[in-house]
Amino acid sequence: MIINHPNFGDIAADRVIIFDTTLRDGEQSPGFSMNLAEKLRMAEALAELGVDVIEAGFPIASPGDFESVQSIARKLKNGPVIAGLARTSRNDILSAAEAVKDAERKRIHVFLSTSPLHMKYKLRMEPDEVLQLAIDSVTLARQYTDDVEWSAEDGSRTEPDFLCRCVEAAIKAGATTINIPDTVGYALPADMTRIFTMLRERVPGAEKIIFSTHNHNDLGLAVANTLAAVAAGARQIECTINGIGERAGNAALEEVAMAIRTRPDAVPCQSGIVTERIMMTSKLLSTITGFDVQPNKAIVGRNAFAHESGIHQDGVLKNAATYEIMTPESVGLTKNSLVMGKHSGRAAFRDKLRALGYGELGDNQINDAFRRFKDLADRKKVVYDEDISALVDDEIVRDNDRIRFVALDVHAGSRGPAKAVLELEIDGQAHSAEASGDGPVDATFSAIHKIFPHEARLVLFSIGAVTEGTDAQARTTVRLEEAGKMVDGQGADTDTIVAATRAYLHALNKLLVKRERTEPEALSA
Ligand code: KIV
Ligand code: ZN
Repeated sequence: MIINHPNFGDIAADRVIIFDTTLRDGEQSPGFSMNLAEKLRMAEALAELGVDVIEAGFPIASPGDFESVQSIARKLKNGPVIAGLARTSRNDILSAAEAVKDAERKRIHVFLSTSPLHMKYKLRMEPDEVLQLAIDSVTLARQYTDDVEWSAEDGSRTEPDFLCRCVEAAIKAGATTINIPDTVGYALPADMTRIFTMLRERVPGAEKIIFSTHNHNDLGLAVANTLAAVAAGARQIECTINGIGERAGNAALEEVAMAIRTRPDAVPCQSGIVTERIMMTSKLLSTITGFDVQPNKAIVGRNAFAHESGIHQDGVLKNAATYEIMTPESVGLTKNSLVMGKHSGRAAFRDKLRALGYGELGDNQINDAFRRFKDLADRKKVVYDEDISALVDDEIVRDNDRIRFVALDVHAGSRGPAKAVLELEIDGQAHSAEASGDGPVDATFSAIHKIFPHEARLVLFSIGAVTEGTDAQARTTVRLEEAGKMVDGQGADTDTIVAATRAYLHALNKLLVKRERTEPEALSA
């Protein structure tokens, strides 16, 4: 079976479309908001990873959301289809249409609840009204693009006959992708098998469109449900990097992609994902959002390829396949390798960045990163790839920051209060302050308060090491809370207090972005 799709042309029966919603479902979850520069950087990384569709945001939600969808649509050329999300109202659809207008390939994604609970309590509508709304909204969206996706929100809890009627109506109105979300993460794999088999058997026109699966992880089954849906004929997978998303998150892109690559016998499908780019995309997201994945997270966790036990190590040394079902290289994990020292030049540094996958950096970013690399090489005996990545990611995420770190002097120790003298730049203006405190971190954070008074509360402060050794760079995370909004910031430096300061400023800059953004209207998962 070959489907002819307005944006992809003829799609082979075994090709699965990877629809990434990191920048929409992922970004709308608490603590994961990103500014425009961060979203653009993430979108570029997703394009390089080989995703087919990027859901770039929910344009009606705020001017900031609109601007980021529009910028991504304008900037990414020869890349993925750019989708904008919309509810069924005219304003939502027009806003999504305008935001994606300049994309080379665009999609409008309209969603509407279809389950009895959602129709009664959320929409307060009768099923026939919902059906008509589905038809009207898809018809309207089709006036702006041939590629329209329709989602039956809470589809997995929708009454089967009604789901079939809605899907049939949406197809007749012109939807080219039909998505059945497990919005609340309630379904089991057997439900997915039943739903997609039923839709393909019963709905007229089902053979002409792509069925899509969108699973939340409340029961830890998002990836299992996704694979069950694919086995039952779904050919678009909606997923996010590191599995971020509403509540327990969405199906993790890296897990789905590696299941497809590792088990062609059981999942006989192809995706366009360049799996060797998984690790760096995952790390970039962690750096941008300030949330590291748990150490035992499948595919991208720190321990995912670590063999601690002697028996396993022995087996792996004799033949890696004894305990490894995928190679670390297949997900882009490179061994700690010695890179350059303080005598390495700019050209070698640029080559290294390319080898690490940072192909698209601008000259300013390379210059700033090179300056920090030189500084690091002066202070640290051995500079590893991880050090370079930490430092470059740090530069990238700070590109649009209003508050910037300049310098810090700290006096600390067991005698007397610690003292910090801090220099910052705010909107290009130099500022400095001196403060004392109970330890160097307290003194430094007080100095930040003096320069930039704010009400945010520090709710988490953690320190880890980028690599091994006493001269390793510290990677710090700071979580700030202000008026119910939570943000995380990260910083890396061989000086732990400087790393903490960078993390604090990163979080503060994110709060500023949040303040500028009007909060989205209530949006379902
Ligand atoms: O989970 C969900 O139902 C969604 C829709 C907007 C597709 O995210
Ligand atoms: Zn969702």
